[in-house]
Amino acid sequence: MINNYLKTLNGTINVPGDKSISHRAVMFGSVAEGQTTIQHFLPGEDCLSTIACFEKMGVEIVRKNDNVAVRGLGWNGIQEPQAILDVGNSGTTTRLLLGILAGIPIHACVIGDDSIAKRPMKRVTEPLRLMGARIDGRKNGQYTPLAIRGGSLTAIQYSSKIASAQVKSAILLAGLNSNGETTVTEPHKSRDHTERMLQAFGVEVKINGLSVSVQGGQSLKGTTIFVPGDISSAAFFLVAGAIVPDSNLVLKNVGINPTRTGIIDILKQMGANLSFHNVNEKNNEPFADIHVSYSSLNGIEISGEMIPRLIDEIPIIALLATQAKGVTYIKDASELKVKETNRIQTVVDELTKLGANIEATEDGMIIKGKTELEAAVVTSHGDHRIGMMLSIASFVSKGDMFIHDTESIAVSYPTFFEDIEKITN
Ligand code: S3P
Repeated sequence: MINNYLKTLNGTINVPGDKSISHRAVMFGSVAEGQTTIQHFLPGEDCLSTIACFEKMGVEIVRKNDNVAVRGLGWNGIQEPQAILDVGNSGTTTRLLLGILAGIPIHACVIGDDSIAKRPMKRVTEPLRLMGARIDGRKNGQYTPLAIRGGSLTAIQYSSKIASAQVKSAILLAGLNSNGETTVTEPHKSRDHTERMLQAFGVEVKINGLSVSVQGGQSLKGTTIFVPGDISSAAFFLVAGAIVPDSNLVLKNVGINPTRTGIIDILKQMGANLSFHNVNEKNNEPFADIHVSYSSLNGIEISGEMIPRLIDEIPIIALLATQAKGVTYIKDASELKVKETNRIQTVVDELTKLGANIEATEDGMIIKGKTELEAAVVTSHGDHRIGMMLSIASFVSKGDMFIHDTESIAVSYPTFFEDIEKITN
């Protein structure tokens, strides 16, 4: 049982490493030639699943807290795994791993947890099959468990119906082992960590508007990757600082890659007090300290190309909207239905229990504020981001709150509750 009502949040947080970048650093380091050193790696369960998968393929990976050394084997050194590759709860591991395996002449089986088993994989298995990978699996390769046998691939020009960095990355990684130039075009720009990091590993990447191309036959060269703080983790505190009266927070070294900063843009549009300090850049990824303090907020519309720039932040944005005056519309976000949970449903169900005025729509939600929330018994549904959103909600909900299933938070933010403790007054 927790009661955080009327407590304030003040102080500094070193936000743990970015999940998307941590996954990629391990994967690219594994298939690169030579050693890769990863600094400020996220030791969350998802990224540990990625490490475990590559270890099963013969890669030596040594981790000491958030420092990781990967002894890359090159594309040709990756070994056929003797056991199943278990991706746990991680969609990024599943889809990018398939892209890598597609171009390597070995057989591998990929499974994950109950949530992964419900997530659509056709979006990657279809283009990878078009390139020549042999993939079988449940419902004809639409869902895990999946079996893949990779090999020499044909380059493709692929127009993706969805703006998904996982789809784009899987195809580009496969393209590196294809016989020509592979291009992926998306309807809106999704996060571009793959493009930026491949270049840091010495790969030539061509970017032309919404299209990204790589030439087959390129090898990666081991390097040092600094992982900035995860803006998707920082988002919980950015919102907390903005909605909890008298709060004042500094979030250190947070990644501010423009394909991820939708949360900053909408907080500013709603009237939040936010500023960037100590802007820096390493291995093509910009980062900064972000200051946030309490202010009064107004509802807005969030839709279109903004959605991929804040897709993982929508659960906490829904809470934010309950504390803003007026109506917030979230549209064009049906991808939320195929995340770790159906996040339209789980967000609406749990915030309704707290007394929010929130309604699900076909592709998003409508939230009317400002509402005084009342604490209740709620659940994360095993979804890390729902668990963290509800924990922040306890600071603006009157009474005692109980959140079931907070263990899931370790997927992306194992030190979440310690960090909350540090800044709660
Ligand atoms: C991710 C891409 C996004 C995001 C996920 C991480 C990545 O998924 O929601 O948490 O690291 O590429 P989609 O590519 O499915 O949009």
